[in-house]
Amino acid sequence: MNIAVLSDIHGNVTAFKQVLDYLKNREIDAFCILGDYSGEFAGVRETLDMIYALQDRYPVHIIKGNKEEYLMLGLGGNHPEWDEYPSTVGMLRYAYDNMRKRDWEFIKNLPETLTVEYEGMESLFLCHGSPKEVKGKLLQGSKKNKEYLEGVKEKYVLCGHTHRYVEFEDCGKKIINPGAVGNPLDDGRHDHTSFVILSSVGREWEAEHIYLKQNVDAMVKNMMSYNLHRIAPYWTACNEAFFRGSLFSNGEILDRAMQITEEETGSCEWPAIPEKAWEKAFREMIVGQFPLVYDKMMVKLV
Ligand SMILES: [Fe+2]
Repeated sequence: MNIAVLSDIHGNVTAFKQVLDYLKNREIDAFCILGDYSGEFAGVRETLDMIYALQDRYPVHIIKGNKEEYLMLGLGGNHPEWDEYPSTVGMLRYAYDNMRKRDWEFIKNLPETLTVEYEGMESLFLCHGSPKEVKGKLLQGSKKNKEYLEGVKEKYVLCGHTHRYVEFEDCGKKIINPGAVGNPLDDGRHDHTSFVILSSVGREWEAEHIYLKQNVDAMVKNMMSYNLHRIAPYWTACNEAFFRGSLFSNGEILDRAMQITEEETGSCEWPAIPEKAWEKAFREMIVGQFPLVYDKMMVKLV
């Protein structure tokens, strides 16, 4: 038996299609999908439509991620007081505005964690970040793993959220993170898509990790065709820079922009991060450190 394990699509429908096309030529019996269906890319509806279509053809074991939690909390909703922070809230708003009734019902009903059982096989425990927190991180060598894994009975724990592929053992569990379909953080592989196929070997599961190279120009063109560089200017520019080889993720540049805001105003509370602070962080971390990356970019500072 073979199970495809995918996580963190983040609306990158180009990468998601590429993965599903690849899997057509593999014998796949079921899917596990570990959350975060929207984020940096425009394909919110398309991603969900592709998941609905998958559900018609396969058993799909699926949970929510922190992005779905943000949407349910209304972070992309009606907050006119946030209008001046498009780089921070633009993509949340975009996802929120593009969700249809069916999509809201769907994400509302997604569980946070799930146990998957197949006869004669070790059970699988699914979570987005960690078994206890949707934004927790199961990391190799982390002291927090013990706390996170306490009470989990299943031997195999499948998680995502870090956007880094990893497999390790801790507290008697085998932890498998397939990395991200949408935007992997694995060193030197930002322009790839990452996922895992689990195959049964006796009662156990063996993971095959797969990277496929993405077409970065096509992805950026797609982002531009949906005006993402206007909807979430620096967020989108950071995303493009990352795919083109910068070392900093959107989250890291956001952290720096928050730090700059705090240095300049004495405090910073999300999402009140002025575009000026984003610009400063972007210039420092991308234009300053990776001028060649910036030269290659199609999205420019606005
Ligand atoms: Fe996540």
